[in-house]
Amino acid sequence: MATILDGKAVSAHVKAEVKREVEALAKQGVSVSLAVILVGDDPASHTYVRNKEKACAEAGIRSKTYRLPADTTEQALLALVETLNADKAVNGILCQLPLPKGLNEAAVIAAVSPEKDVDAFHAVNVGRIMLGNYAFLPCTPAGIVELLDYYRIDPAGKRCVVIGRSNIVGKPMAMLLLHRDATVTVCHSKTEDLAAITKTADILVAAVGKPRFVTADMVKPGAVVIDVGMDRDENGKLCGDVDFAAVEPKAACITPVPGGVGPMTIATLLKNTVTAAKLQNGLR
Ligand code: GUN
Repeated sequence: MATILDGKAVSAHVKAEVKREVEALAKQGVSVSLAVILVGDDPASHTYVRNKEKACAEAGIRSKTYRLPADTTEQALLALVETLNADKAVNGILCQLPLPKGLNEAAVIAAVSPEKDVDAFHAVNVGRIMLGNYAFLPCTPAGIVELLDYYRIDPAGKRCVVIGRSNIVGKPMAMLLLHRDATVTVCHSKTEDLAAITKTADILVAAVGKPRFVTADMVKPGAVVIDVGMDRDENGKLCGDVDFAAVEPKAACITPVPGGVGPMTIATLLKNTVTAAKLQNGLR
């Protein structure tokens, strides 16, 4: 029986800490606020944004969501970002991805002021992560590292395999594990003999976006398995990138879906928003 890495429980600790910090800032006359932009009607994005709003409210962070129709023009979207960049009452700006077809994600990411970029997607913040001197943590990877820390799983010297090379998860995940002295391999859709590589992993991070992609034969006995997926199976049921039922008996530790990585991502977002407020008020 694997240890279940309980992101819901661990994120509750992180969120309680954030709440204390927000209260302490309020006593100094500093309020903390997040602006969320949600374009179109992707149901998963709407769920994620609702979860982010709820978490902000619980932590005492003011949040405002700008829900825009799918046919919003790039010009209108960039104009909103500029308005939020200039608004001193807004500390953090997050544009939920993916954007509807026809909107240029790179242009929107580049438009967000790096000082308010609580996703850490802007090139300036990505570069800082690469160099290891970052203020904003990449939300999902940092949430995963915090979860590992909580369970005293130390990546140092370990073989870590990340499946997926997205800018949001795979690449920054590899970088954070490297900062923790892991030996990191990044696999992707063109990787040959994937299972041979994943089977070497002491820590395996699946960020593929395909339901139950990681099967038991791809996992080393006693591995730590981190599932970033939020997928729907053929019956429309929520599941991860890992075949949990088959992999769990083989793993030493595993994250569930839901209740694993997702809540940790949101907890990191809250931390970043507090960091933004502090930086903008000269408190760090
Ligand atoms: N879409 C999936 N994950 C994320 C995330 O962490 N931030 C944003 N903005 N969009 C996402």
